Amino acid sequence: MNRYRETYAEINLKHLYHNLKSIQKIVHPKTVIPVVKADAYGHGAVEVVRYLIDKGIDYFAVSLLEEALELRRVYPNIELLCMGIIENEGLLIASENNITVTMSNFNQLQNCPKLSKTLKIHLKVDTGMNRLGFKSDHDIKEVIDEIQKNEKFFLEGIFTHFSTADENISYYKKQLNRFDDIFTNLNFKFKMIHVSNSSSQIQFEKDLPWTTHTRLGISLYGLTYIDHIKFLKNTFTLKTKISQLNRLTAGEFVGYGASYESSGQEIIAVLPIGYADGFIRKNTGGFVEINHKRYPIVGRICMDMTFVKVDESVQLHDEVILFGGLISIDEVADRLDTINYEVICQISKRVPRIYKK
Ligand SMILES: Cc1ncc(COP(=O)(O)O)c(C=O)c1O
Repeated sequence: MNRYRETYAEINLKHLYHNLKSIQKIVHPKTVIPVVKADAYGHGAVEVVRYLIDKGIDYFAVSLLEEALELRRVYPNIELLCMGIIENEGLLIASENNITVTMSNFNQLQNCPKLSKTLKIHLKVDTGMNRLGFKSDHDIKEVIDEIQKNEKFFLEGIFTHFSTADENISYYKKQLNRFDDIFTNLNFKFKMIHVSNSSSQIQFEKDLPWTTHTRLGISLYGLTYIDHIKFLKNTFTLKTKISQLNRLTAGEFVGYGASYESSGQEIIAVLPIGYADGFIRKNTGGFVEINHKRYPIVGRICMDMTFVKVDESVQLHDEVILFGGLISIDEVADRLDTINYEVICQISKRVPRIYKK
C-alpha cells in the first residue's frame, strides 16, 4: 500500500536476531522457540518469521489457530505450535495444516472430530497459574492414556507456563517444583519439554537439565523486567514527522475540550498520529523526541493527531520519535501505568511497519 503519511513503526530485524542469538547462547543446548503471537507482539509476524527462517529458525509459537494459518499459508514447511485453546473443527483444520495444538482440558479431547491426518499435541500442565492446562496427577495420567488410544494423535510435547518469573521467584520455584514432580512421575517419553518464558529462561534455564526448548516472547523484542540485563536491543521505534506548526500567544487553547491553554508565546507542533493508531489519549503529559531533545505532549490526543509543545529550533517535517529512542518503551509503559507488552501490541494496523534489515 502507498504511504501518504509519515507515521510508521521501524522494526529492526537485526536487533531482533541479536536478541534471539544472545538468549540462544544462554539457554544452549536447548532450542529457543520464538513466540510470534499477536502479530509478533505488534512487529508483523509474517515479516519477522520470514527473517528468522532465513536465519535457520524453523519452529514458532502463536496463540490462535488463525495466527498459525496465516503463517502456514506463506510458509508451508515450518513447525507451528498454537498455545491457546483449539476446539472442535479447529482441531481438524490444525491436523490438515500440520499445526501442533495444545491440549488443555478434556472438553477439547472429547469433542475432537474424526481426523484423517495426524494431530501433533503438546500437553499443557497447570502448575499454578490457573489459566490453561491439566492440574491433578490423576487428570494428567488419564489424558495421556486417552491421547494414546487415538492413532491419529501424536503426543509430542509437554509444557507449563509461569505466572511470576519476572517478579516473584518463590512462586516461580513452586510452579517449577510442581512441574518437576508431575514430570518425573510420568511414564512417558516426550520429544519436547518446555517451561520457560523470556524472564525465566534468561535467569534460570541453565538449572533445568531436563527441558528441550524454551519459548521466547518479549525479550525477542528487546524488552525485559530483569534489571541487570543490558544486552537486549530495541526492535520497535514509533516515528512520525511534524505536519504543522502553530504559533500561539498567551491565553489560546489547543485541541478538543480546549484543555490546554498557552501561557505565553508558544509553538505547538501537530503530529499525524492519534488514538486510532494506538497512541492512546493517556499519553498526554508524556514526552516525544525531536532532534535528540524531549518535548511534552499537550492537550487531548485526537483520533488522528497529537499536539506537542516545541521551541524555535524545531522545523516543519522534523522527525519525531514517539518511543524506541530517547524515550523508551518502558518509559511509555510507566506513563500509561501498564506493561511494555501492551505498549507495542496496541499500536494498530493503521501504522505501517517498515523493516530495517
Ligand atoms: C504460553 C506462553 N508461553 C510463552 C509466552 C511468552 O512469554 P514472554 O513474552 O514473557 O516471553 C507467552 C506469552 O504470554 C505465553 O502465553
